[in-house]
Amino acid sequence: MSNVLQLSGVSVVRGRKTLLGGIDWQVREGERWVVLGPNGAGKTTLLQLAAARMHPTRGTVGILDETLGKVDVFELRPRIGLASAALANQIPEDEKVLNVVVTAAYGVTGRWNEEYEKDDERRAFRLLNEWGMGPLLGRVFASLSEGERKRVQIARALMTDPELLLLDEPGAGLDLAGREELVQRLSELASDDDAPALVLVTHHLEEVPPGFTHALLLRDGGVVASGPITSTLTEANLSETFGMPLNVVSRDGRYTATAKDGAIAAAASAS
Ligand SMILES: Nc1ncnc2c1ncn2[C@@H]1O[C@H](COP(=O)(O)OP(=O)(O)O)[C@@H](O)[C@H]1O
Ligand SMILES: [Mg+2]
Repeated sequence: MSNVLQLSGVSVVRGRKTLLGGIDWQVREGERWVVLGPNGAGKTTLLQLAAARMHPTRGTVGILDETLGKVDVFELRPRIGLASAALANQIPEDEKVLNVVVTAAYGVTGRWNEEYEKDDERRAFRLLNEWGMGPLLGRVFASLSEGERKRVQIARALMTDPELLLLDEPGAGLDLAGREELVQRLSELASDDDAPALVLVTHHLEEVPPGFTHALLLRDGGVVASGPITSTLTEANLSETFGMPLNVVSRDGRYTATAKDGAIAAAASAS
């Protein structure tokens, strides 16, 4: 496989609103991307395209050497793992943790009437163990902490052994310890040569896991910058992306951003 994702001149328009405009983006095998941008920048829309859950209004979207519009998306989707709030919302409250993961093998959420294949159950069990959820297999999904739920969702996204893993704001709603545990686990995943290509969406620079290789910065449906992570996550690029002068500090592969002195007052008087 040469290209995991190949977007050329991609736009998504809904009514009079351009959600994404003229996006060019290429993800290759082995790369680990973080997609950063403020609320409403178009990050989720971009991930929906990459997950073959949406078609572009204009341009072409290549996924795993197939082209959207020329491929049966039901054959493509099992090759892509996706974890998002929208998918989590489809999981029935009383679903058991093991079922949340194993049903991904059948492309469904919720109760499944057929017998599971023993191999599928074993894989789900192994993935849950890897993500530290082994002891909670029999629990009901709704009874888990937010951090535990996030890990179950990632295990579910990995169930079909995808070639591309897409994570839409997996850090949302986590407390500090939960976030740090997730960042650590994603950093380990990033360094695993057998792991699929990774795309992680967030609006918090603090959630960028060490070991991620590339960054795409989005604002108002357009690309501000993209490329290797260290040359892309600069103060100038991030300030433009978030519309505020920022101090950006990176240490040991972690990033933090804070507003520059006077940036808040300047933004207030400009609006
Ligand atoms: N179906 C739609 N029709 C009109 N606007 C939409 C639609 N879906 C999303 N939007 C808008 O498009 C913008 C981008 O949304 P989204 O991709 O969810 O951004 P992000 O994930 O970066 O917060 C937002 O302003 C959102 O309100
Ligand atoms: Mg979003």
